[in-house]
Amino acid sequence: MSIDLPLSVERDAQQPMSAQLVAQLRSAMGEGRLAAGERLPSSRALAGLLGVSRTVVTEAYEQLYAEGWLEGRHGSGTYVTEGVAAAPMPRPQAKTKPVRRAAAPHEIDLRPGLAWIGALDTPAWRRAWRLAAGMPPQQRQDPHGLLGLRQALADYIRRSRGVTCPLDGLLITRGATNGLDLLAATVLRPGDRVGVEEPGYGRARAVLRGRGAELVPCPVDEHGLVVDALPDDLRLVYTTPSHQFPMGGVLPVPRRQALLAWARRNGAIIAEDDYDGEFRYDVAPLPALYGLDPDVVVYLGTTAKILTADMGVGWLGGRPDLVAEVALRREELNDRTAVVPQDALRLLLERGDLDRYVRRMRGEYARRREVVVQALDGLPLRGDTAGLHLVVDVPETVAARAVDEAARRGIVLETLDRHHMGPVRASGLVIGYGSAATLAELRKGCEIVRTLAG
Ligand SMILES: Cc1ncc(COP(=O)(O)O)c(C=O)c1O
Repeated sequence: MSIDLPLSVERDAQQPMSAQLVAQLRSAMGEGRLAAGERLPSSRALAGLLGVSRTVVTEAYEQLYAEGWLEGRHGSGTYVTEGVAAAPMPRPQAKTKPVRRAAAPHEIDLRPGLAWIGALDTPAWRRAWRLAAGMPPQQRQDPHGLLGLRQALADYIRRSRGVTCPLDGLLITRGATNGLDLLAATVLRPGDRVGVEEPGYGRARAVLRGRGAELVPCPVDEHGLVVDALPDDLRLVYTTPSHQFPMGGVLPVPRRQALLAWARRNGAIIAEDDYDGEFRYDVAPLPALYGLDPDVVVYLGTTAKILTADMGVGWLGGRPDLVAEVALRREELNDRTAVVPQDALRLLLERGDLDRYVRRMRGEYARRREVVVQALDGLPLRGDTAGLHLVVDVPETVAARAVDEAARRGIVLETLDRHHMGPVRASGLVIGYGSAATLAELRKGCEIVRTLAG
């Protein structure tokens, strides 16, 4: 065996054995105990050593491949990717698009941005709202939000997103965009240059512009933000590393580390919008970027995709001193999150209902994704391993024609160009699989898209 590491797996632990192995190898690589370029033992050898089946090891390796920690060299085994091992990082000094219309009842809506709510109205959901509405009124709440919800959320993001956030580093918002707005209102001065992904999320651009930022479009490719192209003079960069919106890339570990190093070098803040990070279909979700360096990342979470945007609750995680400043600024602005939705979410979390629902939705979205991918068979797809949308990569003229023709057949589609702030760099259709009411409608809509865009 070519590595000498204390690896062990427990058969009776709650965590599956492959996940235990992933966690141990990930931390060994992150801490530099396993160095870049080092060769890992073959799956057969490691399985023999640990006394487990070979599948346990191959599953763990597959996950680490997908996260970018490992690379294969043809015919010669598995290696730690160059550039991923931890290097000590220096400390820091400290065109508006039209509003979109609602789909008419008879239409099939294939646009991104909405979660499927067909199974949301459960007894647990009703119970949480009923109890929350029956709580005695409060005169004044802590600008960080309800303590009980922050406690339940700190547990949830640790379980679901692999990050630890201290309670004084967590503030309840009305959603990811509200969190970004509060952050911008706290840290930006008029004219500060702020990087946004291009193409990217239009509402984030609108919020940042509204706080006086000078927006700097930063290119993305099929893996997400192109970190090497970031200018050094940005105060903040807004990014969606778990599933780039709208292109769908999942930012690989070496780029995550380069992004953190860039932020530290330049004293910049990274705003991580983790809007749909719970949903990944090929391998387990990657932990949030925030977990790698809570000092330079501000984490923006939301119920918009795991429940519904209409719940109006999100969370912001960050360095406690920065979060305290956000809380103060929020008081100045008289900005708050209503108490009843906070309590409803707390109850859903405390009783395990949210975890159960997210597990169920993971299955539902995996089925929906499968239907979409099958129905679009033969078209070039991007970004389909995570989240609730994917991109059909077709020329602008084909995409525009497909939108018009689909509209005549009662199908609402969206093109990639509307997600650009500058000249269009990537063309195609963005297909969301949360909006359509049923699997049958989703299939029918996508089959028509295939005939129009193929
Ligand atoms: C990239 C991105 N971020 C965030 C959100 C949700 O934001 P909010 O929590 O403010 O509703 C969405 C919803 O479509 C989104 O696409």
